[in-house]
Amino acid sequence: MPDTDKVFAGSIPRLYDEYLVPMIFAVYAEDIARRVAALSPSALLEIAAGTGAVTRAVAAALPRGIRYVATDLNEPMLAVAAQRQAGDDRITWRQADGMDLPFADAEFDVVCCQFGAMFFPDRIRAYGEVKRVLKGDGTFVFNVWDRIEDNVLAQEATVALEELFPDDPPRFMVRTPHGYCDKSVIRSDLERAGFRDILIETRPEISRAPSAEYAAIALCQGTPLRSEIEARDAGKLQAATDIVAEAIRTRHGPGPVEGKIQAIVIEARG
Ligand SMILES: C[S@@+](CC[C@H](N)C(=O)[O-])C[C@H]1O[C@@H](n2cnc3c(N)ncnc32)[C@H](O)[C@@H]1O
Repeated sequence: MPDTDKVFAGSIPRLYDEYLVPMIFAVYAEDIARRVAALSPSALLEIAAGTGAVTRAVAAALPRGIRYVATDLNEPMLAVAAQRQAGDDRITWRQADGMDLPFADAEFDVVCCQFGAMFFPDRIRAYGEVKRVLKGDGTFVFNVWDRIEDNVLAQEATVALEELFPDDPPRFMVRTPHGYCDKSVIRSDLERAGFRDILIETRPEISRAPSAEYAAIALCQGTPLRSEIEARDAGKLQAATDIVAEAIRTRHGPGPVEGKIQAIVIEARG
C-alpha cells in the first residue's frame, strides 16, 4: 500500500465528512452503534474514528458516565470530528496509530473501528493491540468494505478513471478500501492475534446521493483517490471528477443516485 493511501489531510477531511459520510458511512455507523450499545460498555475505545461518523452515532446510543476515547492516525480528521461533537464530556479525542495504541493493557470493555482495518499495513499487529487493550471478556466490533463489485459507485468511478489515465489508472479504491474482504483471511488474522470467538456477517445497504456530481465529488475529492489523481496530473482533478460524474449519470440517470454498497461486519472476543 503506498503511504499516500492512509493520508486524510488538506481538503479531504471536510469533503469526506460533508459528502462521503452521508453517502456511504452513516448507515453503517448506525449498525456499529447498535452493536456497541448492546454490549453496554463503561470504557470504549474507537480506532480510525475519522471525522466521527461512528462516534456521533455511538455517543447518542450510550448513557452518561461512560468513558469514550476516539482516536485516528490523522489529526485533521479528528479535528473535524471534535468540532462537530464539542461539549460531550464523555469523549476524549486522541491521535493514535491503530498498530501502536497508547493505552494500558485491559483498559476497555469494547473497541470499535469502522472501515479502518483496510488501512493498517500490519493487521495482525493492529488486532494484537486491540486484544491487549481489551479486558478479558471484551469485544472488538468492526467492519470492512466488501469487494468493489458489490459497491457499485466506487466500481463505476474506478472504471471511468481508466479512460482518463489509460496507462496508469488510479487503483486506490480496489487496492485499499476494497482490498481486505476475504472472510477466511479476516478470521485467520484475528485468530493469529489471539481472538477465538469470531462472528462474521455480510451486510448489504443502499447508498444515496442527490446527484451524480455529488457522488463524483465524494469519491474523487473526499478520499485519498484525490491524491492519486493529483499525483498523475494536479490539473486534472476537476476533469477526473467530471468523467466520473458523467459515468454515474449515464448509469443512474440525471437525478438522485442510488447504488448497492456492501460491508463485512465482525464481532470478535478473546
Ligand atoms: C475510511 S476512513 C473511516 C473513518 C471513520 N471510521 C468513518 O466511518 O467515517 C479510514 C480512517 O482510517 C484512518 N487511518 C488510516 N490508517 C490508520 C492507522 N494506522 N491507525 C489509525 N487510523 C488510521 C484514516 O485517517 C481515516 O480516518
